[in-house]
Amino acid sequence: MKILVIGATGTIGKEIYNALKKNHEVYRAHRNSDTYPVDITNKNSIKSLFEKLPKLDAVINAAGTASWKSLSDLKEEDYYLGIKSKLMGQVNLVHIAKDYLKENGSITLTTGILAEHYEPNAVALSLVNGAIHSFVHAASNELNRGIRLNTVAPGAIAGDFPKDQKFAGYLPVEIEDVVKIYEHILTTKNTGQILKIY
Ligand SMILES: NC(=O)c1ccc[n+]([C@@H]2O[C@H](COP(=O)([O-])OP(=O)(O)OC[C@H]3O[C@@H](n4cnc5c(N)ncnc54)[C@H](OP(=O)(O)O)[C@@H]3O)[C@@H](O)[C@H]2O)c1
Repeated sequence: MKILVIGATGTIGKEIYNALKKNHEVYRAHRNSDTYPVDITNKNSIKSLFEKLPKLDAVINAAGTASWKSLSDLKEEDYYLGIKSKLMGQVNLVHIAKDYLKENGSITLTTGILAEHYEPNAVALSLVNGAIHSFVHAASNELNRGIRLNTVAPGAIAGDFPKDQKFAGYLPVEIEDVVKIYEHILTTKNTGQILKIY
């Protein structure tokens, strides 16, 4: 398969890239890439990345951020960071990727445990993760040409967080197990799924 991984140097993205490149032709994109630079907050940047690449079987996004602040510290502008990056970055990616992928292509987004479990200072992330879950449920019904849309919702990744310390009420998860879910989605016919691992 020809697969694009966005955010491919991050904690999650680099492990997805390393696992997939063993058996697939994988393109590694992120903002500071020399070969495939992309900023998901900018629609033109996403489009020009797809213009550079051959027809793809799949795109996986593991990029996107939001503000880490308590409710009392969050200003309206702080919410827009996550709305522009993790939320609309991924929504715009779907809008653009659906026209560039091959028939039956796969789009996989990344959300996280915070969509449904509380962690201090993570209100703005909870907001965008929940919105993406609703978007995936609905938008997956309206994709043509057999294009599939799913999201992986991991807990905190062990290594980034201490293994024995709970995050949002759950212990961290091993990155190898998280990567297996991204790989599995490529081989199924599932769409509209929120694949939770925590
Ligand atoms: N790490 C965790 O424990 C964890 C758990 C659950 C969910 N998540 C979610 O998973 C996603 C990835 O997290 P991570 O910890 O792997 O992130 P990370 O280590 O900070 O890596 C982010 C990756 O995305 C790229 N990137 C950042 N902003 C970008 C943008 N606007 N456009 C394109 N690429 C961009 C970065 O490279 P450049 O700087 O070169 O762009 C890097 O490759 C996030 O949405 C996060 O909320 C993470």
